[in-house]
Amino acid sequence: MKECSVTHPPQIHLARLPTPLHPLPRLSAKLGVDLFMKRDDLTGSALSGNKIRKLEFVLADAVAQKADTVLTCGGAQSNHCRATAIAAAMLGMNCRLLLRTEDPSNPPFPEANILLDQMAGAEIVWITPAEYKSRDEIFEREATALRTAGRKPYMIPEGASNALGAWGYIRCIEELVNDIANLPGGPHKDSTIINATGSGGTSAGLILGTKIFDLNARVVSVNVCDDHDYFMRVIGEICEHAISDFQLEIDFSREGDINIIDGYVGRGYALSRPEELSVICDLARTEGIFLDPVYTGKAFFGMLQELKRDPGCFGERIIFIHTGGIYGLFPKAREIEPLLR
Ligand SMILES: Cc1ncc(COP(=O)(O)O)c(C=O)c1O
Repeated sequence: MKECSVTHPPQIHLARLPTPLHPLPRLSAKLGVDLFMKRDDLTGSALSGNKIRKLEFVLADAVAQKADTVLTCGGAQSNHCRATAIAAAMLGMNCRLLLRTEDPSNPPFPEANILLDQMAGAEIVWITPAEYKSRDEIFEREATALRTAGRKPYMIPEGASNALGAWGYIRCIEELVNDIANLPGGPHKDSTIINATGSGGTSAGLILGTKIFDLNARVVSVNVCDDHDYFMRVIGEICEHAISDFQLEIDFSREGDINIIDGYVGRGYALSRPEELSVICDLARTEGIFLDPVYTGKAFFGMLQELKRDPGCFGERIIFIHTGGIYGLFPKAREIEPLLR
């Protein structure tokens, strides 16, 4: 990858970058809009998805601090935890994961992301949804236990979504500047970047990046949990911390720069509706691309619904960020199978 044109914090190169920007010709023709996909599902195979972009910065800090164990958290099928476990193995570090499940005494069968976590050697601590809400205390408890055992822990917040992790998607915008320069209409076409938001770091990086690299595009995020106000706050805080920590000389306002499309959480976080799974199956058939049921499938479904309502709402060109998550499909096999008949 070519060197960054702005000064950025240290980065460890673990992902396959730059990722390609693929046109979706058949769907574009059907929708009457130029639709492209930034294939961040191709950042690696087991490592696939958006998290590794953020982890490249966060883990560089962990290594600089001479940590030997990374400690992070997420839902049972967390893509972030899987990426952290694999990246830790690549760096010769230990990894401890705090994973959320209804009944820690009866944890889920190790399939999909959990299987990969365990194969990569991560230690799993199962915690309840109530404990997860006060996870800072559990982080402290686990960090103390690790220190007592002579280890040097480094704590990574949910989704690696902090000011440092935001650099992953600031740099993704740098790639997009190059990608877009090569498209018909170049940078002058009215473009919208669409992504799924879950812990806010991807959106924050994309928003900051468009400003830093002066990209003529609006970032629109579809929330897959919580609501509009929650993400205005979370994304706003990450952007503001990054601006202050890294002295970024950009104008930013929560109201002016954060665009959340609320209304597509559906049955709840990680719960699917048949219409969302159908959209995932349709895209696999029409373009050979697999979205995930928890994040990208919901965001793509939301984007299609918005286009139905107003075909011009995203301008002439859409760039959908495929943030990965393919392993999330496997625990949904029983819900997907009836849609294939
Ligand atoms: C596949 C996938 N897409 C999107 C997201 C959302 O990204 P963020 O947590 O940075 O908001 C996540 C993680 O939460 C994810 O695993």
